Amino acid sequence: VSGIAYSSRRFAFAAAHRYWVDAWSAVENEQFFGRLTVPHGHNYALEVTVRGPIDPQTGMVINLTELKSIVNGAVVERFDHADLNADPLFRGRVPTTENVATAVWGLLAAKLGPERLWQVRVWEDDTLYVDYRGEGA
Ligand code: NI
Repeated sequence: VSGIAYSSRRFAFAAAHRYWVDAWSAVENEQFFGRLTVPHGHNYALEVTVRGPIDPQTGMVINLTELKSIVNGAVVERFDHADLNADPLFRGRVPTTENVATAVWGLLAAKLGPERLWQVRVWEDDTLYVDYRGEGA
């Protein structure tokens, strides 16, 4: 039996952010975002799913050690204990869970290839996650 499989690996990072639209006044920001305008932190979880044929020799979709080192190098080391608002990826973009997911996608698609990367799921906390599968998905 062969075929396509989807393999996911979970990662974690802690990061700070606040929600703020530069084009808005302080009053407008506070009306829209409330307390989210105040800097605070989250323990994020990231689930990266790769898709592909199961290699008949290794039995794997991707070398999971390679996946771990790619995600740690490209995403976890960049965002862990970071102020997301200070990262150039969030210049002019509110660091919402949606925008974190698209930023992670961009960092990983460059390393894994968009054909192998199937989905990134970013958990901001136990109650909120966002899935992103690339543009047009
Ligand atoms: Ni927050």
